[in-house]
Amino acid sequence: MYLAALSLTNFRNYRAATLSLAQGLTVFAGPNGAGKSNILEAVHCLATGRSFRTRAEAEMRSFAPDPERPYTQVAGKVAAGGHETELEVIWAAEPDREAGFSKRIRIGGAPRRASSLLQHLHVVLFTPHDIALVDGSPSTRRRYLDYLLSRIDPSYLRTLQSFEHVMAERNALLRALREGTTRDQRQLEAWNRELTGLAAPLIALRLAFVHQAAAPLATYYAKLTGSASELHLRYESTVDLPAVPPLPAELRISALPDTWQAEIQAVLAAALTENAPREQAQAVTVVGPHRDDFTFLSSGHPLSAYGSRGQQRLAALTLKLTEIFLLHAESGEWPVVLLDDFLSELDAQRRQDVLASLAPAIQAFATTSDLQQYERSVLESAHILHVADNTIEAAG
Ligand SMILES: Nc1ncnc2c1ncn2[C@@H]1O[C@H](COP(=O)(O)OP(=O)(O)OP(=O)(O)O)[C@@H](O)[C@H]1O
Ligand SMILES: [Mg+2]
Repeated sequence: MYLAALSLTNFRNYRAATLSLAQGLTVFAGPNGAGKSNILEAVHCLATGRSFRTRAEAEMRSFAPDPERPYTQVAGKVAAGGHETELEVIWAAEPDREAGFSKRIRIGGAPRRASSLLQHLHVVLFTPHDIALVDGSPSTRRRYLDYLLSRIDPSYLRTLQSFEHVMAERNALLRALREGTTRDQRQLEAWNRELTGLAAPLIALRLAFVHQAAAPLATYYAKLTGSASELHLRYESTVDLPAVPPLPAELRISALPDTWQAEIQAVLAAALTENAPREQAQAVTVVGPHRDDFTFLSSGHPLSAYGSRGQQRLAALTLKLTEIFLLHAESGEWPVVLLDDFLSELDAQRRQDVLASLAPAIQAFATTSDLQQYERSVLESAHILHVADNTIEAAG
């Protein structure tokens, strides 16, 4: 898939900007602070409904918006499978609301939920912060897994949202039990069944992902490091999980063996019983996918503890390349790749390797303040757009 057109209205430093975009590599070049990352942020909003830089979405509204148009908008046309789809994210100013705006999503002109965007435009973002996947907190890795699997299988996202809802209800009941405002143990048992029934498919699909990722991870890591050291992911759960059975190639909850999901549910149910005293004391759910994590292992050792910065960075990069590979394998479409300043962190050889590992059919957007970081041969086949003075212009 690729983004054929992008238009920004009152978005960051752009009052109005419209771009036609092509497949292959587009490099946004310009001085620091010119607004290059802002463009990638806009593309990310179109793909997910959200920024990758801020939770405070009001920050994206221009300091000096066009008074004729009291809203911020990102719109784009996605071409995939011979069709074009118009996507729009609109933040309308609403001074009475706490957030200061209300957000609307339209797909093909019709109002939709933000989560529907995930199925229409796949992006894979590379930034210097990706190293946090290796050395950062478990929640960073869980968010990454959840976001990836939600794009691959919409039922993963629906299950996750139900799980979070049930867990919130269950935690409220645990608090009420601790405070003595209820003694309803039967209600807790009902929540336990619901919770484990939703948790099991989430964990199963995550394990299936770790399994599917093994081969591409090994291939990309060997290519990037040029060494024989291996890279593996290990899923870390709050419970002792049953062995992984032979799995189908498809990364979908509905394709995974039911018996295996039932085994996982049974293990979770037993763990809830075992942890009942702890849960009563803490009044929170201590067992489940919301506490799980995964570790990067290189030749058996966790990279978070033993890896050099360079190795950690390459491991994160390898995971992102694997993400591209799996999104393509599952959907038949290449995602749009966003490279925000990323290549500046790599040496010349690695830069070449990364760019070479992107299939020519992939649309990639890169930002740089220094075009010399790119090989001449790469630039010759790339589209170069200069970003300066709040405008974006083709080179030449
Ligand atoms: N809401 C906003 N309205 C107007 N301008 C904004 C807004 N938010 C950020 N900016 C401006 O955008 C610029 C930063 O843009 P961006 O992060 O895209 O720069 P960049 O070209 O990627 O720079 P670098 O090369 O340093 O990464 C700053 O000059 C900032 O003042
Ligand atoms: Mg930037």
